[in-house]
Amino acid sequence: MAKKIILEPSRTLAEFRLLPGLTDEASVFERVNLNTVLTAPYRTGNAVLLGTPLLAAAMQSVSGVRMAVELARLGGCAFIYCSQPIKEQAEMVRLAKQLFVKIPNTAGQTGAIGAAVNTHDYTERVPSLVDAGVDVITLDSSDGYSTYQAKALTWIRERFPKLTTVAGNIVTAEGFRFLAECGADAVKVGMGGGSICITQEQKGTGRGLATAIIDVVEARERWKSHTGIHIPVIADGGITTAKEITMALAMGSDAVMMGRYFARMEESPTEKITLNNKVMKPYWGEGAPRASDWKSNRYHQSKFAEGVEGFVEYAGTLDENLSQTTAKIRASLSSCGCPDIPSFHKNAVLEIVSALSIREGQVHDIFLPGMETASYGRTVWGEQS
Ligand code: IMP
Repeated sequence: MAKKIILEPSRTLAEFRLLPGLTDEASVFERVNLNTVLTAPYRTGNAVLLGTPLLAAAMQSVSGVRMAVELARLGGCAFIYCSQPIKEQAEMVRLAKQLFVKIPNTAGQTGAIGAAVNTHDYTERVPSLVDAGVDVITLDSSDGYSTYQAKALTWIRERFPKLTTVAGNIVTAEGFRFLAECGADAVKVGMGGGSICITQEQKGTGRGLATAIIDVVEARERWKSHTGIHIPVIADGGITTAKEITMALAMGSDAVMMGRYFARMEESPTEKITLNNKVMKPYWGEGAPRASDWKSNRYHQSKFAEGVEGFVEYAGTLDENLSQTTAKIRASLSSCGCPDIPSFHKNAVLEIVSALSIREGQVHDIFLPGMETASYGRTVWGEQS
């Protein structure tokens, strides 16, 4: 018999909708701000504050120098991947820091330059990244509920007391408590949901992202009421649209991390190609055979793949896409009567919707331009991001 069998299914973000709240002068669209805290200041005295709650994943096909600089300029943060030699990663961080100039917004928020480290060579990698001027690091592991993360966090805390560190990934309250006790300055939540991820198929481990966020945020709130410390939560893996970002924020996430979303941009490190008359960019997981030329040991690459390689449709520049996406998020907060993310955390009201309600919420029963028959639930101008 297992220790525990949960008979409630875990939920995804797409199964929820927000109920509107009173929109007033403070929460009109123009006044909504998306400032957020990426890592708490309590341990290091050194908070990382962002103007945009969007983070680019630590992946070869997502976060190179160009992405890091442009996303930081727009108030977010990309984590330069660690599936490469230490020297090369540190050089990328150094370059990103030279190009990027911090210009705080009125609330003092800027973007930041991040980098990932693994739990194997961190004693060499972290000092090189600190030397290169990294603002924040993340421990890059598909399963962060491990003594390896504890050791790495303890080591970083002792050697670099001012360096803020994101730990993870975790999907349970126990995983959260473990990393919080080890001194994590923020945690990443999500397992098995990434667009390139085959972890659930290969190992049977994982959890619907909404359930994982809810469980971890409840633990985070309990931790806060005992210690007074707010540990930011980052939702990671499988987030494709602005409304899913908004749901993750409403559930208590302070930021979201995405791979596929950013892989489609001009600024991702890959070349555009044309396939079936569409402009595409390649996108692959860090656990895909393509990433395993360089062994990060994040996944059990030597024995089996935990990720795949594919293509995503080219979407244009980061600037254009981010302004669309953040406009949609700000419009949602405004509808909910929330001028900022902390008030969204307190006041958002969410509801699970039925499969039929979801269908009702899509275009239905009309003839769409270029289509011969009216179709149900087919979105031709639907959002691509
Ligand atoms: P996406 O935004 O749905 O594309 O998911 C990106 C996230 O998937 C990353 O931030 C990682 O947490 C996770 N990830 C990256 N590479 C792999 C992989 O090869 N297998 C499983 N998960 C991965």
